[in-house]
Amino acid sequence: MSTNPLSQDALKAMVAEAALAFVPEGSYIGVGTGSTVNLFIDALAARGLSIKGAVSSSEASTQRMQALGLPVIDLGAVERMTVYIDGADEIDGHGCMIKGGGAALTREKIVAAQAKRFVCIADISKRVEVLGSFPLPVEVIPMAAPEIVRRFAIWGGKAELRMHQGQPKVTDNGQHLLDVHGLEIRDPLNFENQVSQWPGVVTVGVFAHQRAHVCLLGTPQGVQTLHYAGVAAMP
Ligand code: 5RP
Repeated sequence: MSTNPLSQDALKAMVAEAALAFVPEGSYIGVGTGSTVNLFIDALAARGLSIKGAVSSSEASTQRMQALGLPVIDLGAVERMTVYIDGADEIDGHGCMIKGGGAALTREKIVAAQAKRFVCIADISKRVEVLGSFPLPVEVIPMAAPEIVRRFAIWGGKAELRMHQGQPKVTDNGQHLLDVHGLEIRDPLNFENQVSQWPGVVTVGVFAHQRAHVCLLGTPQGVQTLHYAGVAAMP
């Protein structure tokens, strides 16, 4: 990792460390996926905070936590987690996000929905006014992909099949991903509602229903803690 305090990696490390304050001893937590979350996992293990269990959103995070001796549990083993910690590809001024750059959006949405509070950890480059500059990930059932591509084209979006080593990228759930370029998502809740209903869409990477309660934003001036109005944490 770079030692330049203004580098993106340094900002990610700052927010990963700051997120530990949201993890009570002896609690169940949900853990997202990605490079920022990897730093959070490392910080959690290094701090030696004792948690009852962590529900993971991906095979990658599971492996990293297990390698560090953190207790990973199945989602079914816990009804509510105290907190869900995850990164984002973009976050707007209301805590709505684009997620899925790391291909884990479906499990991320499932796990986030069972947590009382979503704490997003992100460097300042992720903060946007309008979602959509980052190509929107959409997990799809492969046979439905061509029609979903056509539907996005009607909205001005160019959907591309995500590839990995010359083959379609296969998610942890055995499905494919589209990345949709050229969207301006001005009403994330309505957008998520509509796309979620298209046949063959497994998960759209707009997190409006599961928007963040809090964002720890890494800036050159330090970590800003942003609370979003109207997002009540579950009791
Ligand atoms: C993975 C995600 C990640 O949270 C998102 O891609 C941000 O990743 P990073 O922390 O590496 O910037 O949604 O599916």
